[in-house]
Amino acid sequence: MRPKIAAGNWKMNGTAAALAELNALGPVVPASGTTVIICPPAPLLFRAVDLAGPLNIAIGAQDCHAEPKGAFTGDISAGMIADCGASHVIVGHSERRDRYSETNANVRQKAEQAWRAGLTPIICLGESLDVREAGTTLDIIATQLSGSLPDDVTATNTVVAYEPIWAIGTGKVPTLEQIIEVHDFIRAQLTSRFGAETAQMIPLLYGGSVKADNAATIFSAENVDGALVGGASLKASDFGPIVTALAAS
Ligand code: 13P
Repeated sequence: MRPKIAAGNWKMNGTAAALAELNALGPVVPASGTTVIICPPAPLLFRAVDLAGPLNIAIGAQDCHAEPKGAFTGDISAGMIADCGASHVIVGHSERRDRYSETNANVRQKAEQAWRAGLTPIICLGESLDVREAGTTLDIIATQLSGSLPDDVTATNTVVAYEPIWAIGTGKVPTLEQIIEVHDFIRAQLTSRFGAETAQMIPLLYGGSVKADNAATIFSAENVDGALVGGASLKASDFGPIVTALAAS
């Protein structure tokens, strides 16, 4: 049985007042069987951890640096995130890859830093619209997987998120067949690299315009173990039904 995970990526949205959404989400968080993770902006991590603990909500960061410390003005290390009490960190989000020119090698280093700090990295992959239209999606996913995942992936230390860039924040969702094709492919790639026993346990999340009204369909895919949600994670009234749909899947 793989863990089911509903993760919310708040991106650069929300100040301390937004943490009230955690309290509102609390009543729909299942007691067991489904992990709910909220990734607020870094300045809110400390307070979010305090609030979320009793609510059975895990807290993650949205990025970490590839080095453990040093003269990197404005950056935060995996160790600092762990020190806040967070348990997860997103690495390799397409917004970081695109706008900050992060390479697969950078993402791999960040995942290793996450492990060293005791965090679970949520490693993101996904193709652009050009790639999708050129028909080379699976080639790109294979390259991202082999370059971004370190060799030390185990059954329990990593989460992988597939987020087609053209579906992020656009309201455009791939067909269920497209989602199944990529998730099955990722599982097969993980199996050939890490072995079936490990690969079968790694949660694969889908991300990109997940909403309450499409969540159940997306979660019906065998190799979709949850979602990484942007816009619809900001309000408990939007995210709660997604969590409930996952728990029921
Ligand atoms: P949306 O759910 O807003 O499309 O964002 C997805 C995402 O980028 C989550 O990391």
